[in-house]
Amino acid sequence: MTGRDAQGPGAILVTGGAGFIGSNFVRLALERTRARIVVVDKLTYAGSLRSLDDCLSDPRLHFVQADIGDRRAIAAVFREHRPDRLVNFAAETHVDRSIDGPAAFVETNLVGTFELLEVAREAHREREEAERRRFRFLHVSTDEVYGSLGPDGLFREDTPYAPNSPYAASKAGADHLVRAYQHTYGLPTLITNCSNNYGPYQFPEKLIPLMTLNAIEGKPLPIYGDGANVRDWLYVEDHCEGILLVLERGRVGEKYNIGGGNERTNLEIVDRLCEALEELLPADENPALRGQGKASYSDLKRFVADRPGHDRRYAIDAKKIRRELGWSPRHDFESGLARTVAWYLENRDWCDAVQQGRYRRERLGLAETGERSGA
Ligand SMILES: NC(=O)c1ccc[n+]([C@@H]2O[C@H](COP(=O)([O-])OP(=O)(O)OC[C@H]3O[C@@H](n4cnc5c(N)ncnc54)[C@H](O)[C@@H]3O)[C@@H](O)[C@H]2O)c1
Repeated sequence: MTGRDAQGPGAILVTGGAGFIGSNFVRLALERTRARIVVVDKLTYAGSLRSLDDCLSDPRLHFVQADIGDRRAIAAVFREHRPDRLVNFAAETHVDRSIDGPAAFVETNLVGTFELLEVAREAHREREEAERRRFRFLHVSTDEVYGSLGPDGLFREDTPYAPNSPYAASKAGADHLVRAYQHTYGLPTLITNCSNNYGPYQFPEKLIPLMTLNAIEGKPLPIYGDGANVRDWLYVEDHCEGILLVLERGRVGEKYNIGGGNERTNLEIVDRLCEALEELLPADENPALRGQGKASYSDLKRFVADRPGHDRRYAIDAKKIRRELGWSPRHDFESGLARTVAWYLENRDWCDAVQQGRYRRERLGLAETGERSGA
């Protein structure tokens, strides 16, 4: 029995728990802990209760629809559920959307995190000493705060911040606030900075689900620029296991980088994905391709205008979490990608429900150039 179990299993407040990583984390936390899980989510276009379908009947799960920036609503959640841990996933997350409309990113990612910190600080201040010591505020962040790498080198926890997109800048600002609340007020905070995730329940605007669904439907596969931008890809369950470890055993005030050591160009991702799909649904058996006379999914690839300010390469040095907490990813890229592509093939109803006719996988994020075609 861990120290926390000796005090009772407690409650984890999970903001953004109806989104991609949040819903995977909720599933893992229900499975691996005895805690009550309180999900707070605004249910923006990117969040859906459908992503928690299989968890909603669990009596340990509570759902509250609220904005993390709504201080009164969050304070009421703290009063009612008395969480002893908080994991902040809630965010606007799509870089292309941050180029078209940065305001929502500043509002949620920066101001929303600030409001959440204020409520947590107040609740923490009022608690008994033992409860104060146990409390954790874990802020989930991204490797994009570090900016872009050249062909060599890795992001370490002490790499200076140099965010390049409005999304990355809003996350960087939030990271600084979280750090400052620990330093100034003694709020027990932790930060994780993770590389690109992939897996089930990711909204179809992101590279892997977008390309998978377009390929299944015989639509073009739009590759930004020359396709040589490099990201370090991690299967979502491996990220969630890392977060749970940091929550349980991470050193207060520290930040931990999480990454798969799995660098791929965007072009390679699309090629591997076409191969994985070919195994599951051969192109010559897919009427959407046969009708166009296309023999393989690769024939759908199109190079389109690059994202403005597109960072060239991200890569994570995850030695600290490996060494201190014994974390390592359990999924290799081939098996993780095959599982992901299979999940999207088998869950077309989820894909239709979350897009709800409002999102048609159109090209976003060309505000600077005014170009709109290509996708
Ligand atoms: N996806 C990745 O590859 C990746 C990598 C590293 C870090 N992250 C970080 O992990 C977190 C989760 O990312 P994701 O990919 O699951 O995002 P997502 O877009 O799939 O989900 C975000 C969730 O937050 C909710 N939300 C948005 N604004 C809110 C608000 N004001 N109040 C309450 N809820 C709100 C949405 O409804 C949605 O359920 C984010 O903080 C992101 O910056 C993501």
